[in-house]
Amino acid sequence: MAVPVIDIQQVTKRFPGVVALSDVTFDILEGEFHSICGENGAGKSTLMKILSGVQTEYEGEILVRGEVAHFRGTRDAEQAGISIIHQELNLVEQLSVAANIFLGRELTTGGFLNDREMEKQAAELFKQLECAIRPDQLVGELRVGDQQLVEIAKALSLKSDILIMDEPTSALTETEVERLFRVIERLQSQGVTILYISHKMEEVFRLSDRITVLRDGRHVQTLDRSETSARDISHLMVGREIENVHLGGERQPGEVILEVEELSLPWPGHAREWRLENVSFNLRAGEVVGIAGLMGAGRTELLETLFGARSERHTGEVRLDGERVRFRHPLEACNAGLAMVSEDRKRLGLFSLMSVRENITLCTLPEVTSAGLISSSLEEQAAQESIKQLGIKTAGPEAPVVSLSGGNQQKCIIARWLRTNPKVLLLDDPTRGIDVGAKAELYRVIDQLCRDGLGILVTSSEMPELITLCDRILVLCEGRLTGELTRDEFSEQRIMELATTGID
Ligand SMILES: Nc1ncnc2c1ncn2[C@@H]1O[C@H](COP(=O)(O)OP(=O)(O)OP(=O)(O)O)[C@@H](O)[C@H]1O
Ligand SMILES: [Mg+2]
Repeated sequence: MAVPVIDIQQVTKRFPGVVALSDVTFDILEGEFHSICGENGAGKSTLMKILSGVQTEYEGEILVRGEVAHFRGTRDAEQAGISIIHQELNLVEQLSVAANIFLGRELTTGGFLNDREMEKQAAELFKQLECAIRPDQLVGELRVGDQQLVEIAKALSLKSDILIMDEPTSALTETEVERLFRVIERLQSQGVTILYISHKMEEVFRLSDRITVLRDGRHVQTLDRSETSARDISHLMVGREIENVHLGGERQPGEVILEVEELSLPWPGHAREWRLENVSFNLRAGEVVGIAGLMGAGRTELLETLFGARSERHTGEVRLDGERVRFRHPLEACNAGLAMVSEDRKRLGLFSLMSVRENITLCTLPEVTSAGLISSSLEEQAAQESIKQLGIKTAGPEAPVVSLSGGNQQKCIIARWLRTNPKVLLLDDPTRGIDVGAKAELYRVIDQLCRDGLGILVTSSEMPELITLCDRILVLCEGRLTGELTRDEFSEQRIMELATTGID
């Protein structure tokens, strides 16, 4: 019989204006894979932060192996064998990968940092994860997906027997998810207890022994996987039925709005030489074009190049409304009618010191300016509108944006760009970390924008998402376009084939 390793008893957590957790009671059994599900803002991360010693103020009790634990910090939790992989990555960008992994418990010899040994051990961890990240690289130079792998390596290095994973796969592609699952299975066979948060039901249903649903900070139910289904769980999460999204009838794309011809982006010092090579395609007004590909295929680089957000000089031609453009800065792109929701909200999207209102209206200040002054009432009105449109869960427009849950922060960024009324909208994995209900909502918003005449380019790490949203899908593989599919040719298998063409 499995015994509880963690007992959560009547835990309540209040923030100013929000009750994040309310009288939550359930337990985690030794060696089980336990998933926590719930909408954006349901309280999942907050509970995990309490269990891992990040959040130290709360009401109620946490028992670890039968004893009341009151962690004063993550160090205490780590000592009790609990570590966490955070949803909002917690890495120091200016430090190397190895330094991040051993942060706060650096290896030393004779009083000096032993970089060599740390790099060696880090390399060992990456070998376990079957990935080729260099331990001496700066974390700031890595893509989010790789940064996520560094977080995972860090947690592994602690050799914890309870591992909390808060949306570990949100920036990983299918192959990387597979890899992570192999690692998880190995950990499980060593008896490690896993607490897992994900908005992706197929992940939840793959390995879970039990699933707990939280709604509005309350514990709804803890179920055995065998006695429930993805449909039941979604229903418990939102308290109503979520219909499958059907996006009306055929769209009628208009004129070509964006033309890309033989676009190449250099990759100095890299064996592959080009991040993007001879990419050509066009986008019409009133059309959604998807860009599929594995991580590293160049999806983000393509969107960033179009948006003027890359420092390398590209070759080839980009035409917007028939006119040749070359943006050196996102601001220029923005002024010309482009908008981009970026994949890495921490680096390019969120202004963490500002409020929800400021984050939403940041790019549309003229809209809220009256007689040359920013009108706070117009600004507030605009923010309220967006909060309503996208169902952003916040104590109010004035709440600091960092006080929002991960998914709700993402919605703020989307709201900001929607307000700019662009001609072309670039969406880089826009639904990362967004719950099922909100996703369906966002699909409808995207569809409506498209029908209003916007041209939309979207990438996603989830193929079903592209298949639902797009009129055409372009597939990138190692920086080159390997295929283009129209709606009647869409299938996950076909996309996967094209995404791996030419990779040995
Ligand atoms: N530091 C904070 N200050 C104020 N409010 C907070 C803070 N952290 C979380 N909250 C609030 O607590 C509630 C629960 O947030 P939490 O991050 O736990 O949600 P979540 O279930 O992890 O959602 P998501 O799926 O979007 O990550 C939200 O309403 C959030 O705004
Ligand atoms: Mg969260």
